[in-house]
Amino acid sequence: LNNPPVHFKCPLKLFFLYIEVHVPHEVDQIKDLEIRDSDVFAVTFPKSGTIWMQQILLLLESKGDLRSANMRTIYTSSDAVGWIELKGQPERFTREESPRMRVTHLPFELMPTALTQRKGKVIYVARNPKDILVSFYYFHKIAKFLETPKSFDDFFDKFMNGEVLGGSWFEHIKSWYLHKDEVNMLFITYEEMIMDLTSAVKKMADFLSIELTEDEVQQVVKHSTFKNMKEMSKANYKRAHPNLIDHKEGTFMRKGTIGDWKNHFTVTQNERFDKVFEREMKDVPASFIWDI
Ligand code: A3P
Repeated sequence: LNNPPVHFKCPLKLFFLYIEVHVPHEVDQIKDLEIRDSDVFAVTFPKSGTIWMQQILLLLESKGDLRSANMRTIYTSSDAVGWIELKGQPERFTREESPRMRVTHLPFELMPTALTQRKGKVIYVARNPKDILVSFYYFHKIAKFLETPKSFDDFFDKFMNGEVLGGSWFEHIKSWYLHKDEVNMLFITYEEMIMDLTSAVKKMADFLSIELTEDEVQQVVKHSTFKNMKEMSKANYKRAHPNLIDHKEGTFMRKGTIGDWKNHFTVTQNERFDKVFEREMKDVPASFIWDI
């Protein structure tokens, strides 16, 4: 990290912000990790459905058996499918038996080089960034390790400037999307998962070569719907210390919908967002569903 990739000139600040909050020197160890063909990484920008992927990956591996999935988690749903960039994770990852599953918010450039030798598999989950912004705003209110937003306006500016955990959404998606053919990657959207979770689960199972019966697929789906996850204490970080998550301010599993941005953005903010989106995403042919 002493020589950050040029690509991160502008969002570097954000990455340092991210790294200071969550990621100590471990990031340096990640690039050289040995990757096995069976390794799976779910990559997300924050607030794009990370916990959803943690739940789905666990359930896929348990063939839909919630009890055995739960036995692998104690504190939160992220226990068994942790962030590779967190403290101690690279060592833990190295020691762990296959299949190893992790999530990450890191950009492509900071991930293990071995991924580009087509080792391991990556599922990139993209969410429409207007909804991410709103979800993030509320998350900042409950996450005590993040700055409490002064106002939605102020947070809007910060997000647009990439001054939030994980940096610029635009840089994040570009870093992965533009390299998607160099790694074994399934690109999927949060919206696609909302609209047809069964197809999304089947797509992921196929990609990961996990064979499931129709009944097992339905069990995975059942235990990963918003309605059911909203009732799960682990998915809501209920046991997290109040210094980390202040449950009086809201729930982690908040709305789980498409288009909530329309209840928050002003016309001017929306026009500004669209302009930046058009400019930044001109080389990224990914399309998003903005509302239903
Ligand atoms: P909202 O705040 O819009 O409700 P992350 O885990 O990356 O922080 O993402 C959290 C967002 O994903 C929250 O969005 C949360 O409600 C949503 N989410 C988590 N599990 C979900 C599920 N099973 N279905 C739909 N949305 C889900």
